[in-house]
Amino acid sequence: MSQDAVIDVINVSKHFGGLAAVNNCSLSVRRGSVTGLIGPNGAGKSTLFNMVAGNIVPDEGQVIFDGQDVTGLAPHQLFRLGMLRTFQIAHEFSNMTALENLMMVPGDQPGESLANVWFRPFLARSRETAVRKKALDVIDFLKLGHVRNELAGNLSGGQKKLLELGRTMMVDAKVVLLDEVAAGVNKTLLNDLAANIERMNRELGYTFFVIEHDMDLIARLCDPVIVMAEGRKIAEGSMEEVRANPEIVEAYFGAPVEAA
Ligand SMILES: Nc1ncnc2c1ncn2[C@@H]1O[C@H](COP(=O)(O)OP(=O)(O)O)[C@@H](O)[C@H]1O
Ligand SMILES: [Mg+2]
Repeated sequence: MSQDAVIDVINVSKHFGGLAAVNNCSLSVRRGSVTGLIGPNGAGKSTLFNMVAGNIVPDEGQVIFDGQDVTGLAPHQLFRLGMLRTFQIAHEFSNMTALENLMMVPGDQPGESLANVWFRPFLARSRETAVRKKALDVIDFLKLGHVRNELAGNLSGGQKKLLELGRTMMVDAKVVLLDEVAAGVNKTLLNDLAANIERMNRELGYTFFVIEHDMDLIARLCDPVIVMAEGRKIAEGSMEEVRANPEIVEAYFGAPVEAA
């Protein structure tokens, strides 16, 4: 386990019937990095990602998050610890404004001490003010000010993606897991999205773990890139290094390399 890793996957396996989808796989995500996960179809990327995100429990091995063993924890427990996966804005939130969507993200709830019960009305009010201010800051950062009072359902595909990203900023995530964030987003908006991911990383220090079909986006954003094949990590390096490795190119870039 390395000192500056925020996620450590250690000898993790997951079988489906007789098939080892992930086979004794180890990898790390360095704190402050934008780490990409690529590899041919069927390599085990989605299964690995789902184990990190708490959607699938590994048969063997451990997932360490920020020094803590989180193997088998559910997504909402990981959320509390600061590991967030982006999701499409749920249907029921489409009738709320962009700003309200951000304000709905659960933050730290005040504890149940007697003092809190006594002062709750005050706490609730001051918390709402703080949450609103934070949401406005996030809207500002993502340059969504002009649509902050639009219903989320009326936003463009790219604006919805930005809002999804914004939701992760409401709780000061330690790691954001990005799952095919480019899917269905046109090139211009993709640029916007990529620029915002870069700014979140560079200016605010967010760590990203990215699974993505779009190799241009991976090349632009991710360093390092982890290559998986047959349920394991087979290489890691910058996209240039990975592309310059003849064995990898021959085996995995000859055919289109896919993510997810
Ligand atoms: N729920 C499942 N049930 C059975 N087999 C699965 C399931 N999920 C994935 N697999 C199999 O595990 C292997 C790895 O799949 P996956 O993790 O989706 O790879 P990738 O995302 O790299 O394409 C594939 O052979 C796939 O068919
Ligand atoms: Mg997949």
